[in-house]
Amino acid sequence: QTAGPLWKTPRTMPMDKYEYLSDVWRDGIFDNKVVFCTGGAGSICSAQVRAMVHLGANACIIGRNVEKTENMAKDIATARKGARVLGLGAVDVRKPEALAAAAERCAKELGSIDFVIAGAAGNFLATMDQISSNALKSVMEIDVLGSYNTLKATLPYLVESAEKYKVDGKTRPKAGTGGRIIFVSATLHYAGTPLQSHVSIAKAGVDAMSVSVAIEQGPKGITSNVIAPGPIAGTEGMARLSTDDSRRETRRQIPAQRMGYVKEIADATIYLFSDAGNFVNGETIVVDGGAWHTSSID
Ligand code: HXC
Repeated sequence: QTAGPLWKTPRTMPMDKYEYLSDVWRDGIFDNKVVFCTGGAGSICSAQVRAMVHLGANACIIGRNVEKTENMAKDIATARKGARVLGLGAVDVRKPEALAAAAERCAKELGSIDFVIAGAAGNFLATMDQISSNALKSVMEIDVLGSYNTLKATLPYLVESAEKYKVDGKTRPKAGTGGRIIFVSATLHYAGTPLQSHVSIAKAGVDAMSVSVAIEQGPKGITSNVIAPGPIAGTEGMARLSTDDSRRETRRQIPAQRMGYVKEIADATIYLFSDAGNFVNGETIVVDGGAWHTSSID
């Protein structure tokens, strides 16, 4: 049995035809599991969570805007009958105590935290000389410290989950994985991107953090990986960072000759969190149609 044709297009996605998940994945692979996601009301992270929920997980999404976060939680919950999705707004990832309280509430209400997606990010277009030290600090605090705070708040629950589902050939249960974290990063820092120095600096830190988690926490059964999306159509990032002209130019430069779909980020997420991703740790999966390789070519 496959996941089958999927959900309606949410209003935040002005695309003609949108699917959120390839039908190669099986229903129920995340039954009784819980995913905790920061930035969960955003275009990319909501698709990642929606796919997890569709395949059996319950979820807790974290955001700064209360209404947007609560509405998105309700919308995601429609992906599967009986799904439970908590939307915790007014939680700023820059505040460790707020994240700790959110993680505690998630574990208490939904029973565990098996998977974490650290997706909250801040961005704008500006050259280095237009950016104040406080502006860089804001982005560093949201992207780097925010991801770190997310990790710290959820690690005890992830370790508990990893212990339960440890893949050692003996104690492994019939199905299921846990104790996994994905950091949502970017490709901007690979070749250097004008107007994006602040995010490039921050995302390089996020990438380094993921590898540190992988090697230090790996012996406890934790896996930590990065997904680096390229230009993804219909997202807040694209809306903030591009114009019609620049989007046309971006599409021309991408080897795949198109932008990505949020579904393609969701698919990478499912891969890493599923049994198929058991031995992938400390890696970055770039999902960009080959874009960063040609980003500095005219
Ligand atoms: C220069 C700017 C600026 C701009 C803000 N600042 N916008 N500087 N150019 N366009 C400066 C301010 O002047 C201030 O510095 C400092 O940044 C902090 O601004 P605040 O507004 O006080 O900060 P805050 O309210 O905390 O907002 C943080 C933010 C904002 C990052 C600036 O944009 C935000 O909240 N973004 C969250 C949502 C978001 O960006 N989502 C998109 C993610 S897309 P001074 O010196 O004046 O005090 C993404 C995709 C990446 O990540 C990959 C793409 C391919």
